[in-house]
Amino acid sequence: MKVAIVKAIIFIGCLFVSALAISQGDDAGEGEFPYIVSVTYNDEHICGGFIYSNYFVLTAASCLIGKSPWNTAVVIAQLSLIQPDVDELRIQALSFYIYPEYEEVYHTNDLALIKVNQPIPYGPHVNFIYYEEANDTDTSATVMGWGATQDGGAPSTKLRKAVVTLPADCQSYGIDEFVINTMICAGINEIDKASPCNYDQGSPLVQGNYAIGRMKYVTFLLVSVIVSTATGVLDKSERVTNGVQASAGDFPYIASVTVGGQHICGGFIYNQEWIVTSASCVFDYLPSELRVTVAQLSLINDDPEEKVYAIFRVVLFDGYDYTSGLHDIALLQTASPIEFSTNVNFILYDEARESPADKGILAGWGATFEGGLASSRLRSIEVTFGSDCKAYGEDQYYPNYMLCAGGSAVDTGNPCPLDEGSPLVQESNGVLYAVGIMSKNKGCGTAAEPTIYTRTMPYYPWFAKVAGDQPTPI
Ligand SMILES: *[C@@H]1O[C@H](CO)[C@@H](O)[C@H](O)[C@H]1NC(C)=O
Repeated sequence: MKVAIVKAIIFIGCLFVSALAISQGDDAGEGEFPYIVSVTYNDEHICGGFIYSNYFVLTAASCLIGKSPWNTAVVIAQLSLIQPDVDELRIQALSFYIYPEYEEVYHTNDLALIKVNQPIPYGPHVNFIYYEEANDTDTSATVMGWGATQDGGAPSTKLRKAVVTLPADCQSYGIDEFVINTMICAGINEIDKASPCNYDQGSPLVQGNYAIGRMKYVTFLLVSVIVSTATGVLDKSERVTNGVQASAGDFPYIASVTVGGQHICGGFIYNQEWIVTSASCVFDYLPSELRVTVAQLSLINDDPEEKVYAIFRVVLFDGYDYTSGLHDIALLQTASPIEFSTNVNFILYDEARESPADKGILAGWGATFEGGLASSRLRSIEVTFGSDCKAYGEDQYYPNYMLCAGGSAVDTGNPCPLDEGSPLVQESNGVLYAVGIMSKNKGCGTAAEPTIYTRTMPYYPWFAKVAGDQPTPI
């Protein structure tokens, strides 16, 4: 039934734009996109893809369904589908890894890896590309491929590129077709001159040095491009309401607490040996299972000065109560001293100022909406004070040990899952202080209720006893 409805609104495709348009796309230059590959079936171009590593190419699942690796190859360093190019090489596919949750009717989670039977040789015309979440402040991205230059046409014989704008609105695809937390919507703005077409499926959408998505199966629904991403990152328009992306050095005190390489919580640097986080984040783990990462912005790619420390000791506050969340605070001792730098530093802590006019900043890698995935980039939100957490009940909210913030009419965002343990910070006379640690809330939509933070100040004697003094600020 749903399929029938979708078919009823079929058409337009890339024709609408390309009528004035793909002619407006440009030919790619030699070595300009060293990561692009042509995926071929019986030596005919069927889709684009990008080099993920020496042995893997990422493309769309819809490109490979029903096909055998035996008849599939990837062609690297190629510009022309007809003439040989410098360094051009055809590499035989060995096996396919279709994303397990790929859904064939609506082409959600439309991604697959092709393993090739010999290492891809990197060089001036051939290289891998990192992937990352879309950059909020960059409203354009480049897509390239051998797609048709008009709807229903044959592949372009030359590699072409087009700049598309984002965010765009793909709501018209319907919620089955456009899944906001795993797809990016780009194109269809007034200034877009070109649009990907048939045979561009699987081609990467690129911002700077990162692949932020790939073109999904062409739906021919509307004048628009949907790209599903490698990581399942979030739609930009959705994310803007819940915080802004951080830049290097913005939050030198923030740490990511990880288990098995996966971010689980935030924390802050207390001194060269100790990290403060919430007890609820770490009570279940042995020190040997935990790590902390500092100087990190991206959960996927390495940042300058980023460093991972093993944990030697986990100290939960003695009276931590799992059911009420009372005393939700813990100290993690690193196995070696944390090196301070411009992007890594401790933060002092203090009493919060809690009048309705006061604000605090929370940084973290939490999801950007309820039920979402971790944000791959560090983000921050501003929250206001003066809200009331009485609705949590007397056995859940202890004002002497807990802070209540956010959830008022002026708050545009709330901490989400995976923000637990992150510090709430206030500035006083130019000095920053951690006044709370994200402990719990009832969801993180914009209309959500306030969030409860563990106050830092009441734990002054405990910090001093367990972790010693903080350094003197310079
Ligand atoms: C995001 O885009 C802005 C504007 O183009 C740029 O200045 C900034 O460096 C980009 N950030 C990252 C992490 O690439």
